Amino acid sequence: MTGRDRIAADLEGKRAIVTGGAGGIGLAIARSLSLHGVQVALSDISLKGATAAAADLGEGHIGLEIDVTNRDSVATGFQQIEAAWGGYDLLIANAGVSTMNRTVDLTDEEWDFNFNVNTRGVFLTNQLASRHFLATRNKGVIVNTASLAAKVGAPLLAHYSASKFAVLGWTQALARELAPDGIRVNAVCPGFVKTGMQSREVEWESQLRGLTPEQVLEDYVSQTPLGRIETPEDVAGVVVFLCSDAARFMTGQGINVTGGVYMG
Ligand SMILES: NC(=O)c1ccc[n+]([C@@H]2O[C@H](COP(=O)([O-])OP(=O)(O)OC[C@H]3O[C@@H](n4cnc5c(N)ncnc54)[C@H](O)[C@@H]3O)[C@@H](O)[C@H]2O)c1
Repeated sequence: MTGRDRIAADLEGKRAIVTGGAGGIGLAIARSLSLHGVQVALSDISLKGATAAAADLGEGHIGLEIDVTNRDSVATGFQQIEAAWGGYDLLIANAGVSTMNRTVDLTDEEWDFNFNVNTRGVFLTNQLASRHFLATRNKGVIVNTASLAAKVGAPLLAHYSASKFAVLGWTQALARELAPDGIRVNAVCPGFVKTGMQSREVEWESQLRGLTPEQVLEDYVSQTPLGRIETPEDVAGVVVFLCSDAARFMTGQGINVTGGVYMG
């Protein structure tokens, strides 16, 4: 059996919830998991996006609306999935947002928006999945999408960085709490990934730094030893690995998937 076959064999028949699954990194993770035989519930604040993405993956996958900032919305959505499938095995807490601003100009609204989705969203989804795994004695796996900005403070993204550093602290603490029950909790830390979020950031950054969007993108590439912009699929491969039994002795980690932008 090759390594690839082994990972597919581990994951075949598992059931996953992916938040923020309508596009970008979440959709690539959902697609990669589905190619490894995983049944995926794609959730997103956009019902239309989630439903279309699930239909695109094919039969057996579900698209549903979950706003990760809202406890009732998360609880209702997760219950719906439990009712449909009798439970689930994997949670990928991927939904996230960003805004860009100089710290001196940062507003309360920007701070709260970033923390509500990026940090509170991880808290609520991880807590409900943990309860489910414990109640069903399921040695489940949680993977949170943190960021390069969870390892190094990113200028113009201080609030976003703070919200993602918090995700790593949470991931480590939860991993220690759940390890005795065989539940693993890890995070991935992507770098400069080509998604809708990146397009918005390039536009904001070019305005804030007085550069053209092309210059901003060149700057990202020049910071990346592997010499190109990251793709959502670059992240998805590592998430699939973390979900599989090949990563059975890894917990509490924040894995850098940045093309070498950050090494540590
Ligand atoms: N793109 C990058 O360069 C990059 C780098 C590091 C980390 N990340 C992280 O990766 C994750 C995915 O980002 P992306 O680049 O794919 O962004 P994206 O904007 O392309 O996708 C994010 C998805 O999350 C959904 N979403 C937003 N708010 C939500 C909410 N309250 N509840 C549920 N869903 C919600 C959006 O509708 C969207 O479908 C985020 O956590 C982001 O912080 C992205």
